[in-house]
Amino acid sequence: MARILITSAIPYINGIKHLGNLVGSQLPADLFARFMRAQGHEVMFICATDEHGTPAELAAAKVGQPVDVFCAEMHEVQAEIARGFRLSFDHFGRSSSARNHRLTQSFAGALDRAGLIAEVSEKQVFSIDDNRFLPDRYITGTCPNCGYTSARGDQCENCTKQLDPTDLIDARSSISGSTNLEVRETKHLYLKQRALRDQLEAWIDSKKDWPILTTSIAKKWLNDGDGLQDRGITRDLHWGIPVKKGDQPWPGMEGKVFYVWFDAPIEYIAGTAEWADANGLDDAAWERWWRTDKGAADVKYYQFMGKDNVPFHTLSFPATIIGSGEPWKLVDYLKSFNYLNYDGGQFSTSQGRGIFMDQALSILPPDYWRWWLLSHAPENSDAEFTWENFQMSVNKDLADVLGNLVSRVTKFATAKFGSTIPAGGDFGPQEAALIADLGQRLTEYASLMEAMEVRKAAAELRAIWVVGNEYLQSAAPWTVVKTDPDRAQAMVRLALNLIRVYAVISSPFIPDASASMMTSIGSTDWSWPKDVGAALRTLPAGHEFAVPENLFRKITDEERVEWQTRFAGIRT
Ligand code: MF3
Ligand code: ZN
Repeated sequence: MARILITSAIPYINGIKHLGNLVGSQLPADLFARFMRAQGHEVMFICATDEHGTPAELAAAKVGQPVDVFCAEMHEVQAEIARGFRLSFDHFGRSSSARNHRLTQSFAGALDRAGLIAEVSEKQVFSIDDNRFLPDRYITGTCPNCGYTSARGDQCENCTKQLDPTDLIDARSSISGSTNLEVRETKHLYLKQRALRDQLEAWIDSKKDWPILTTSIAKKWLNDGDGLQDRGITRDLHWGIPVKKGDQPWPGMEGKVFYVWFDAPIEYIAGTAEWADANGLDDAAWERWWRTDKGAADVKYYQFMGKDNVPFHTLSFPATIIGSGEPWKLVDYLKSFNYLNYDGGQFSTSQGRGIFMDQALSILPPDYWRWWLLSHAPENSDAEFTWENFQMSVNKDLADVLGNLVSRVTKFATAKFGSTIPAGGDFGPQEAALIADLGQRLTEYASLMEAMEVRKAAAELRAIWVVGNEYLQSAAPWTVVKTDPDRAQAMVRLALNLIRVYAVISSPFIPDASASMMTSIGSTDWSWPKDVGAALRTLPAGHEFAVPENLFRKITDEERVEWQTRFAGIRT
């Protein structure tokens, strides 16, 4: 039994995520966590909300709430939706937790002691009416280059010229519109990442088995242009983790907070500490997952994220960990994803385009979405959601192949032999052939799941369902029963056992349907079928079962058209 630590990129607090976000991090992480638990491994699966930064402040202001109240409410909303998708986190934490405050401040203290922090004075725009410094992109004005009147302080959207906020003509705050701005001197902390460049490169080079998507992004950032830059890790904001050296004040940094990207990944660790607190456990309980001097050396740590998050997880967060000089666990395998597009365009949170997690659950149960998203995960390239493809996948794979097999077998068995597994006959050559085929496919399926080849694993699982259908089709117990009822009974006994096996192996993808299958087959035996022959004899003659409610319903053409229209527009 191994110990497996899994984290998913933690979603921003300021809004509900769309399906593209879901398939790029939380959902495949959940698939892997469920699979690893089913193999009998000890799993710790952590996610959280990413609560700091200007966007959170502005989202709260927009709805007229104090930012801490807004975050607490939105955390609950996201937690509820995560439960709706059956995301099986051991803990869903908050980056604003006391644990994260302490850990983030402690990392900053350790980095300072290691000589890796520089204090830098900068000039920044201060909005007197907003009583705050403005990040460059929150300053609007007229572009000196093309005259566009809504250019941002970092770049003009119209002519793409890179700008400095002071270049703008008639600069104003994008928050209040106020033009009462002045340039003020302010001090910030920089993490000297450049000093860690060689160590980071050696570490990345040692990861021979990482997906190309992950290592190519990491290498690009390591080598492009001027290479790895030192990074500002503080901001002049009100909402965030106060800048301190451990539990000591940081002279000259009063009133400032850490940059959201500094504290967010530390929440992976803090979230595990929150898990221990929530379960009344001591520090040793979470440290054995994270401290290599306290038992974490034999933990295997996997991270899941969209490709835009890769630089932060291959360079910035490792720089924090390595630079601290403390024995924290580094990631062992980083699984990253391309983007999912939506019906000929992009999913967009800012524009409200696509299907958002709450909307998805309001029209169909989680398994339908889980199955489509995972079986079309954007692994080797970007992928696209279309309603036609979604309808086809659900109707064929789930309803016609898996759902139909379950209902056909249980209904036929009940009608002919009653509600217990029949005793007659024996398995013959047809069954032996099926068992041999399934044995090979299950081995392949398990190794694809272990390798996090999500799409290929889904395809293999679908193939395993198809093989069961084909067996039934050719064995045809409904015909055989007329001439050789004993033989038909043996076939039915196998097919009913097959339902339990399907429930077990499908449950990482479609946990609700698997639970219904298991309930209807009257079993609680979730053990993974290592030996298919034995697994197909698990439920003995005389064992009681029932016909389940329809596992999956089909999506009609009318529904498809209606949803296509309903979700074509922009969500407000
Ligand atoms: N909130 C970020 C996003 O949604 C992800 C943060 S991942 C972390 O893209 F590691 F930094 F926490
Ligand atoms: Zn311009």
